[in-house]
Amino acid sequence: MAYPATRLRRLRTSAAMRELVHETDLDPGRLLLPLFVSETLGDGESEPVAAMPGVERLSIAGAVAAARAAADAGVAGVLLFGLPAEKDARGSAAWDPEGVVQLAIGAIKSALPRLLVVSDVCLCEYTDHGHCGVLDEHGSVVNDETVELLAATAVSHAQAGADIVAPSDMMDGRVGAIRQALDDEALNTTAILAYSAKFASAFYGPFREAAGSTPAFGDRRGYQLEPGNGREALREAVLDAEEGADMLMVKPALAYGDLIRAVAERCELPVAAYNVSGEYAMVRYAAQAGALDERATVLEILTSLRRAGADTIITYHAMDAATWLREA
Ligand code: PBG
Repeated sequence: MAYPATRLRRLRTSAAMRELVHETDLDPGRLLLPLFVSETLGDGESEPVAAMPGVERLSIAGAVAAARAAADAGVAGVLLFGLPAEKDARGSAAWDPEGVVQLAIGAIKSALPRLLVVSDVCLCEYTDHGHCGVLDEHGSVVNDETVELLAATAVSHAQAGADIVAPSDMMDGRVGAIRQALDDEALNTTAILAYSAKFASAFYGPFREAAGSTPAFGDRRGYQLEPGNGREALREAVLDAEEGADMLMVKPALAYGDLIRAVAERCELPVAAYNVSGEYAMVRYAAQAGALDERATVLEILTSLRRAGADTIITYHAMDAATWLREA
């Protein structure tokens, strides 16, 4: 039944026809909005992030206001990153029960109990050297000692009220250790969203400006994945699932659609895609230059991540996307 009997354009003849048969839905309830919360900012203060036009570092009060706007727009939740006033070699502000993220989690949950609060669990924003864990004398990250600190950090976030903890460090065994530590504290309803397939990516550049987490020396290739290694990424996803992760993440998103699809097919767990800072910056800067239609581009990107297999999308475009989706 080749052309002219088969004419695929029949189902594209009108908006109603296209709507009837469209394959992929996108709605704000699939989206998580990242927020940067700084301990050094007072209530009315915020700081723009130059590399990410439209994104600001916020005070705790500012984060509550941004979370309220997200809830009003129908966004599912926020993903919190903390910027502490003090850093040290072990990143000890990360598990401080009075730390900036712990206080922000508490403030957002008490103001907006139904909004999901997800916390990034990592040490890189808290260490003075900017690596994601404790260093040995050669400057490489010590795995098992770091895992203990990450587990303590995750417990402190859950105790503050986080619905989901999201370890982004890429240490071996951290998902199992975090699950155990949470369960030992009777925090068995706190879910784990594992950054499973997290690549050593140039697309994190703008984030590191936002979070002040650029490594003081070297890079993250000793713990994050090589961009060309898809099979190894699947091993990470399978291991995280076995260790008790509730959701798996692929990060970055746009250059890794093959892995979003592969993880979704290989593992039964929900899959999240992180549309990272550099991906956001590319679109924003191109739109500012008049080279791209921002609304159409963002909605196309987010829809394509859903089509690739992502159930959940973490994106700095979440507020704009939610607004555009409601208008549509
Ligand atoms: C912390 C972390 C990073 C991102 C999320 N969690 C940075 C990194 O690994 O260097 C990147 C997010 C983004 O680029 O939007 N480990």
